[in-house]
Formats: sequence, structure tokens, C-alpha cells
Amino acid sequence: MSEQVKTAIFPVAGLGTRFLPATKATPKELLPVLDTPLIQYAIDEAREAGIERLIFVSHPSKQAIERHVMDDARLRATLSARGKEDLAAELEEIALSPAEDDVVFVMQEKPLGLGHAVLCARDHVLPGPVAILLPDDLILGPPGALSEMVSNYGRSDAGHMVATMEVPAADTRKYGVLSVTARDGQLIRADGMVEKPEPEKAPSREAVVGRYVLDASIFEELATQKPGAGGEIQLTDAITRGVERVGLVGFRYSGKRFDCGTKVGMLAATLELAAQDAECADLLQSLGVLAPDNQAA
Ligand code: G1P
Repeated sequence: MSEQVKTAIFPVAGLGTRFLPATKATPKELLPVLDTPLIQYAIDEAREAGIERLIFVSHPSKQAIERHVMDDARLRATLSARGKEDLAAELEEIALSPAEDDVVFVMQEKPLGLGHAVLCARDHVLPGPVAILLPDDLILGPPGALSEMVSNYGRSDAGHMVATMEVPAADTRKYGVLSVTARDGQLIRADGMVEKPEPEKAPSREAVVGRYVLDASIFEELATQKPGAGGEIQLTDAITRGVERVGLVGFRYSGKRFDCGTKVGMLAATLELAAQDAECADLLQSLGVLAPDNQAA
């Protein structure tokens, strides 16, 4: 299983109801952690992992995502004309451009689930395994979680690799959970996954975080996948159906993960990055949130 991972899929069509009213006009993927929108962290992570094609599965009401992601030459020209060359260069550095990057936007008109969102990208993927990044899950490195997964994918000997972490028993109902068969350092061997099980039914406490490297056969499974938990077409179910054929492994990434789909997770991520920013760290110290030696109080 040493094929190169060339494609990344970003499912960004969700309505973001958990963050209303903030997400009424602003897509949740554009909510900032400090000064950078969530989607940008995911894009940077994918680029660091050597991804060639980026596919965004979006919704017609979320045009702002495309405006953020793609280069805006007019804005850069205006900034340069006003002497803000540094800012213009910074924007150019992080933006994707049709001339230099391989970017595709596809629309998922109906909220039929994560599995359905991934299936929407099928006609646009490059040959080989595909990466999937859920921008709600912010994972701070180094190393970037996806690049770590990609470098371990070959030695895992499994077609499907999912990022995992251990969660308290009470939290299994929020995640896909692995049915673990063996542990080998960062690699967690598994023979299946269950979507959001109640604690008493959970096969383990090894929960899936929003990073996947999946064998290309996932699209065949998804095409015939029936709705599962919550009446949605679940990626978890399609992964499980392919396990016997391609194998499944969990990967314990080294970075720190924040659930930015929740207020508390957003705040925790913001504080984490603020503590690393000189100006913000001063404020946190004066508020007593951060000890003078820069450790969280
Ligand atoms: C999705 C997946 C779930 C996974 C989670 C990670 O759920 O369905 O298996 O554990 O992402 O964040 P969601 O959080 O979109 O409900």
C-alpha cells in the first residue's frame, strides 16, 4: 500500500448549526482561530503533506469559502498600492491560484451526510488513495497530522487509515469508534468502526478524528451505502464495509487536537495560539490566564 496520496477532499457544505448565530452569514470554516480561518489551517496541513489536488465539497450558500481560498489579485494590488507589500505577499503565499494550484469546487446541494459529501468528489480525484480533512478538527503540529499519516501509510499495510485519539467512555457517542484488534505504537489495528455508539455499545474508546487516508475503493462502497446513524450516509459505514478487502488502521497523530465545532474547543485553540503570540500572551498574563513564565495558569 505505498501508493502516493495526491488528492485531498475538504467537506465544507455543512450548515454549522452548532455555531449559530455566528454561522448565519459566515461559513463555520471561516471562523478564525486568532487571525486565521479554520479552513486555512486544513489547507496548509494538506499542502505540507504534499497533496497535489484539493477538492472542496461546498454548498451554494457558502461562496465566501471560495473567496477566502482563492487568490484575489485585485485585493493584493490595492494593498501594494497602499504600501502594504508585506500583507499582499502574505495573502499570495497562503492563497490557492488557478494557475499554480490544482483546485476543484463541487457542490453538495443536500445535507445527506459525510459519506455523501465525499462521494460528491468522486469524479475529480486523482488515481490512488485519497485524504479527507474535516476543518472543524484543528490539529496543531508540528508535525502536521496529515503528513505524519501519509508517511506512515505505506508501512501500515492497510488501505484505510483514520486518525484516532482516546476519549472518555461518555464521549464515544460523539465519534466514529474503532473495533481494535491490536496496538503497535502509533498504529492501532482494527476490524471495523461504529458511528457514534452509546458508551455501553462502544467497541473501544479509540475515537476517529477528522483526518483520513482511504483506499480509492471507498467510492464504490459509498455509491451503494445506505443511510446509517442519524439517517445520513456515513463514511464510517463505508469504511467498515471495505475492511476485509483493504484493511483498516487507526493512527495516533502527535499533534494537539481541538474540536473547533464547539465553543469550548474554539476557545481552547484560541488560547493555545494566543499563548504563543507575544502581544496576546501579555494580555493573558495580565488577566491571570497565563503564568508569567508563559505556561497556561
Ligand atoms: C464526523 C464523523 C465521525 C468522526 C468525527 C470527527 O462526525 O462522522 O466518525 O469521529 O467527524 O470529528 P461529526 O463530528 O461530523 O458529527
